[in-house]
Amino acid sequence: MNFDAPLTIALSKGRIFQDSLPLLAQAGIEPTEDPETSRKLILDTNQPQVKLVLIRATDVPTYVQWGAADLGVAGKDVLMEHGGEGLYEPLDLNIARCRMMVCGRPGADLSARRLRIATKYVNSARRHFAAKGQQIEVIKLYGSMELAPLVGLSDLIVDLVETGNTLKANGLEPLEHMADISSRLILNKASWKMKHSSLAGLVEVLREAVCTD
Ligand code: ATP
Ligand code: PRP
Repeated sequence: MNFDAPLTIALSKGRIFQDSLPLLAQAGIEPTEDPETSRKLILDTNQPQVKLVLIRATDVPTYVQWGAADLGVAGKDVLMEHGGEGLYEPLDLNIARCRMMVCGRPGADLSARRLRIATKYVNSARRHFAAKGQQIEVIKLYGSMELAPLVGLSDLIVDLVETGNTLKANGLEPLEHMADISSRLILNKASWKMKHSSLAGLVEVLREAVCTD
């Protein structure tokens, strides 16, 4: 592909970066350094007009919303919490797939009054239980949610489940499905107008490259 405007792409290290690489390669974009060995936060690519910025997964929508990046890749879980303001979400990249679930000890009572839920997905948890007409108390955590029911911090957690191994290792199980999660391409709304030909071309190439199984 030819890029006639400078593009900044926001990605998070780890699974999103790794799973995005083959898709970006289809658009002829290859980073010149490996983020797992480099400490740099801005990576050049073989395309002089295209650079990558490496940030926390939860921060990707914020960078794109404010135009600090023209586009990015973010999990649907993160977008559900962020709310999607200032963003277009044109493409499901079908990578980093998992489920958002209510989890707890086997047989835990989901209908108990005033459940205490520990999670980093505060908004999603509130919406889910509000839709069922259930009052909950939410405790915000930033990781290792599985610990919360084990030490009496909460009755239940809302977390992501892929294989279920993390839950199992901690004596917990998935109890209720909330949402299917995968990573999405997100675009800054102003960039979409100002850099339309480069971005529209890129979206189409990525659409073709997405694996649909
Ligand atoms: P942050 O660093 O901002 O707290 P994080 O630690 O959740 O975010 P990652 O673990 O790299 O960041 O996850 C990035 C995205 O990958 C998540 O937002 C989610 O959409 C998806 N994801 C998380 N865990 C899994 C998993 N076990 N299997 C598949 N996809 C996952
Ligand atoms: C995610 C999630 C679960 C785990 C689920 O954590 O928060 O803990 O994956 O995957 P599983 O069902 O295959 O065990 P991650 O590995 O991203 O670590 P993190 O909590 O540090 O983000």
